[in-house]
This record gives sequence, structure tokens and C-alpha cells, in this order.
Amino acid sequence: MNKITITIDGPAGAGKSTVSRSLAAQIGYVYVDTGALYRGVAYEIKKAKLDYKDHEELVKLLKEIKFDCKMQKDAFKLISNGNDISDKIRTTEISMLASAVSALPEVRSGLLGIQKDIAEKYNAVFEGRDMGTVVFPHAQHKFFLIADLKIRAGRRYKESAENLSKKSSDNLENLNKIEKDMKKRDHNDSTRVESPLKPASDSIVIDSTNLTIEQVVEKIRNNLLIS
Ligand code: DC
Repeated sequence: MNKITITIDGPAGAGKSTVSRSLAAQIGYVYVDTGALYRGVAYEIKKAKLDYKDHEELVKLLKEIKFDCKMQKDAFKLISNGNDISDKIRTTEISMLASAVSALPEVRSGLLGIQKDIAEKYNAVFEGRDMGTVVFPHAQHKFFLIADLKIRAGRRYKESAENLSKKSSDNLENLNKIEKDMKKRDHNDSTRVESPLKPASDSIVIDSTNLTIEQVVEKIRNNLLIS
């Protein structure tokens, strides 16, 4: 049976995760956080103390990684070789490493199968960078979220402050550092040769700078109704 795929791409902090989760919950679709997969690869590379520029070692490691995604109502859990690593992949170090390794073709192609398998089985909201352009060019509904850098950095800062008790020393990051890292990641993600961050030509671009999450979700739902 043909399943429906909704893609939501955009830079870090544009509101993709919250919007995608909320949309998926409202319309009864599964939510798929593809950034978690790249973070998972970065985590395993770090754990193995691997030089990711060593092609052979990287390919070997990629073959050994077995990801399993648990798609819950409002959460996405990443199980790597039997271990739930969802809470370990949100550090600044893993963010930057994920951005670097996501530029590698071996890593991108290694993660294609798992994403396509999910889309074959479920109606899903996929959140990422290249969902509408490369992974699901024929998705029925494509959206691209943007927002001003300062607003995006402010949102991330707020998130890390709110999670102070749950997270590690990462929370000591200040707003400027978050903004600087975000700018660097935006640059990495949008200038790489492989699947750069950019809106698909048939995507609907939504600027969330002055919108609440609810307003963005509503805009998306209105577009789902008319298409
Ligand atoms: O969405 P995120 O911040 O969790 O993503 C982490 C990194 O993974 C991000 O810097 C870019 C990369 N990524 C990607 O290249 N393609 C995707 N579909 C999702 C994430």
C-alpha cells in the first residue's frame, strides 16, 4: 500500500523537530528525526575513536552499525547495536561531528536504506536537510522551514537552559557560542557537495521567525488540505 510522506527540511533551530512532532501527533503519522541518524553515526565514530577521514575504517564501522528506530507517539528513539543512545547524541561535540560526517557520501548512502524502509511501511513526517531534495524527491508534501539566525540560536539556548538538570556540562554554553556553532553548521550543511541543505523546488517555504509552533503547524496543515 502506498504511504504518504511529508518532508520538513531546514537549518538547525528553525523549529523542525517541534513542528514535525506536533504535526505527526495531530495527523496520526510517525515522526522520523533523520538528524538523529547522522548524530548516531557521529556518536559511534567518537566511541570507536575513529578518524572519519580514513575511508576504509569508516566503511568498516558503517557496516557494523545496526540502527533500530523506535517511533513513539511524540518521540524518536535511536537504538544502536541494541543500546538506546537517544540521550547521548545531543551534545555540542556530537552536533559538530554529525555536521562534518554528514558531508561524506559513504555516510549518506549508508543511511538511505533505513529511511526508505520506514517510508514504505508508515505514513510519516520526515525531518532533515535533504528529505525533499534527495531522499524523497517524490514525497507528496514538502516543506522547508527557515528563521533568522539570532532567533534560532535563542531557541536552542532556551532549550539547553530548560534542560539544565538533565544534561551535562554542555549547558554552560553561552548564547554566542551556540550562535557561532550554528552559523558554522549552516555553512557546512548548505555548502557541501553531497545533498546540501536547500529547499526542493516544489517545497513550500515557511519563515518561522515571527510565528509560534502552533502557527507553523497550522500553516502546514492548511497546505495539506488544499493539495
Ligand atoms: O537536525 P540535526 O541538528 O539533529 O542534524 C545533525 C546534523 O546531521 C546536521 O548538522 C546535518 C546532518 N543532517 C543531514 O545532513 N541530513 C539530514 N537529513 C539530517 C541531518
